[in-house]
Amino acid sequence: MEKILITGGAGYIGSHTAVALVDAGYQPIIVDDFSNAEKSVLDGLQKITGQSIPCYEGDCNDKRLMERIFSENELTGVIHFAAYKAVGESTEHPLNYYRNNIFSLLVVLEIMEIYGVENLVFSSSCTVYGQPDTLPVKESTPRKDAESPYGNTKKICEDILTDHVKSKARLSAIALRYFNPIGAHPSGLIGELPTGVPSNLVPFVTQTGAGIRNELTVFGDDYDTPDGSCVRDYIHVMDLAEAHVKSISYLKNKTAPLYDLFNVGTGKGNTVLEVIRAFEKVSGKDLNYKIGPRRPGDVEKVWADTEKINRELNWQPKYTLEDSLRDSWNWQLALSKNPA
Ligand code: WQD
Repeated sequence: MEKILITGGAGYIGSHTAVALVDAGYQPIIVDDFSNAEKSVLDGLQKITGQSIPCYEGDCNDKRLMERIFSENELTGVIHFAAYKAVGESTEHPLNYYRNNIFSLLVVLEIMEIYGVENLVFSSSCTVYGQPDTLPVKESTPRKDAESPYGNTKKICEDILTDHVKSKARLSAIALRYFNPIGAHPSGLIGELPTGVPSNLVPFVTQTGAGIRNELTVFGDDYDTPDGSCVRDYIHVMDLAEAHVKSISYLKNKTAPLYDLFNVGTGKGNTVLEVIRAFEKVSGKDLNYKIGPRRPGDVEKVWADTEKINRELNWQPKYTLEDSLRDSWNWQLALSKNPA
């Protein structure tokens, strides 16, 4: 069975990708330092997949650990998720973000080169677009100045991949520019585990629905959008996971080294208030929220042009916004019963 190393594989998107890889007949191998993940995720993965997914605990900046992993496993490819990803935190601790997010990619690329592992999928973000001038946003849209050090690390890592592949390295890589991942595995056994007060919308919505938070604040309703609240492209995490599996297959079948990048979104935008309405519909709850001031750094509206990934990776999203919110709510209820 072909082995795929998932760095940060116990995290939100990494764990769901592990499930999708097993479903596609691959053997995932996880490396995670659990700085932003719970060990209980491994139990959830065991229940879903029926196997104990091999997991190395540690930091993928640790060259000795990575040497051990690559020497103990013949890998077909690597999916590199491991990175710090909190936008606000990155502005308070930029050096931590630059060191961790960039150095970890360099370690992964160097060890891949030593062991002749040729296929890498990199976790990038639509944040590299900033506020696009035209929508839906295409991969060819020029990237803008990053809104945060976090976003800048994603741009720098994309540039590292471009230059490394151009240098005739044996590597082939795909960068996936995620839009807004939400939802959870339909089983309710794994999902998003925000630490502390969620900065992202959907976990804050479900925690408010569960009574953990008293009230959601909608950050602004005076934008130039259908109802004044910001627009985003919310994609189910299982659809996002499947895009990684398709990327690995695409890389395996390549005829020459390549570097390419793809938007991964639904291709549709929804406002914050639409998300609230959809949540109320699927949960049967009236959500307690108020309108507050805009959040600095927020872009007004962004959603993906998905023509390229549809065509080249033969990938289409399967879940709707309501499906995603239903699964997020199901996961929140499961968490309330059995805290992670
Ligand atoms: C979505 C919308 C908020 C919370 C960020 C990163 C991105 C990725 C996903 C890592 C916005 C509004 C939110 C709340 C609100 N992160 N909102 N009240 O900012 O689009 O993207 O997270 O990969 O890189 O930039 O996501 O969920 O924080 O916000 O009104 O309590 O919900 O203003 O319009 P965002 P988000």
